[in-house]
Amino acid sequence: MKKTALIFGVTGQDGSYLSRLLLKKGYVVHGIIRRSSSINTSRIDDIYQEPFTKKKNFILHYGDLTDGTSIFDLIKKVRPNEIYNLAAQSHVAVSFKVPEYTTNTDALGSLRILDSILKINPKIKYYQAGSSEMFGKVQSYPQNEKTPFYPRSPYAVSKVYAHWITINYRESYNIFACNGILFNHESPLRGETFVTKKIVKALCRIKNKRQKKLYLGNIYAKRDWGHAEDYVIAMWKILQYKKADDWVVCTGKQYSVKQFINLVAKKINLKIRWKGKGINEQALSKDNKVIIQIKKKYFRPAEVDNLKGNYSKAKKFLNWKPSKDINSLIQDMVNYELNDVSNAK
Ligand code: NAP
Ligand code: GDD
Repeated sequence: MKKTALIFGVTGQDGSYLSRLLLKKGYVVHGIIRRSSSINTSRIDDIYQEPFTKKKNFILHYGDLTDGTSIFDLIKKVRPNEIYNLAAQSHVAVSFKVPEYTTNTDALGSLRILDSILKINPKIKYYQAGSSEMFGKVQSYPQNEKTPFYPRSPYAVSKVYAHWITINYRESYNIFACNGILFNHESPLRGETFVTKKIVKALCRIKNKRQKKLYLGNIYAKRDWGHAEDYVIAMWKILQYKKADDWVVCTGKQYSVKQFINLVAKKINLKIRWKGKGINEQALSKDNKVIIQIKKKYFRPAEVDNLKGNYSKAKKFLNWKPSKDINSLIQDMVNYELNDVSNAK
């Protein structure tokens, strides 16, 4: 019997990679998309083509995490074996601007799915897309499953709620409900306003004289960046493990935003020189033009300065480890941008 998966957030970065993985494993994949005035399926459009969808095994439905009725009806109709909840207002900075909407989607959305599972079929397995942002103002270093949370944004606070309601439904109703606590993961399909994609795209365009400047916020924040293709494998493994549990997924390596910029510039052979301090710090090109400038508007009301994870538990019990380091991640992202005609010379 083929397994059926239902993915909330199928049009996002992770939804796209996870769909491909599950289809290759022989699943029937159902995904939830939102109505939008412009097309929002660009990351999954190619999945409709062979070899993925020979037997109509990729099916999309309209729905929304803020709409409990649509969630209940879809789960009842699809009757999945596994649900992956990847849907979220996932931008930390934006969550300060739309805190109520972020909470409705990212916190209550999880509750709506879990409660539908309870009422329709408590045997459905559930994956909750948790985040290293929950560690926020980090209480110990590196962070693992036992590190206390200290969320620093409406986004992170919502994810902490989603984390605990997942555990609560597991403990109260014996639902196979799991939390992945994933550290930052990137790819060519990363949203354009997240810092890695913003940097890679802009530096490729600057190199090809398509753009003059890149504006950034806090370039001293440190992150543990992995590749999304590796991390969706962890999501799947989490739901195949013999018991429901919570798992940290990361690389265990850490770089600052500034180090990331330097690595990208080196990769594309763009010579840059830093000068100045604080808000006046700048990167100059070899002909002394300012190509990177700091802008106050990209700083957050509260920052998460320092994330670095420890994935020993996932390695030991799920036999998971990252296959791609920062260099292969950057190579993959750079190749994609340089092949995009709108960035070409
Ligand atoms: P993403 O690219 O921003 O994708 C988010 C997805 O959620 C999109 O499909 C989006 O649909 C959908 N969505 C947003 N609001 C919704 C709503 N109200 N109802 C239904 N769908 C909604 O995010 P991602 O990077 O793939 O991340 C996937 C999940 O992992 C998110 O929950 C994120 O918070 C979490 N996470 C991500 C990372 C990371 O580094 N990428 C790390 C830890 C945790 P549209 O396309 O229509 O906008
Ligand atoms: N987005 C952005 N834009 N971030 C910037 C900029 C900028 O211009 N300049 C500096 N930064 C800094 C941010 O302040 C942050 O410290 C760091 O770069 C990373 O920012 P993002 O790429 O936006 O990611 P994030 O760490 O806030 O959140 C991502 O990772 C989380 C996991 O830890 C998102 O994918 C979240 O959904 C995810 O949960």
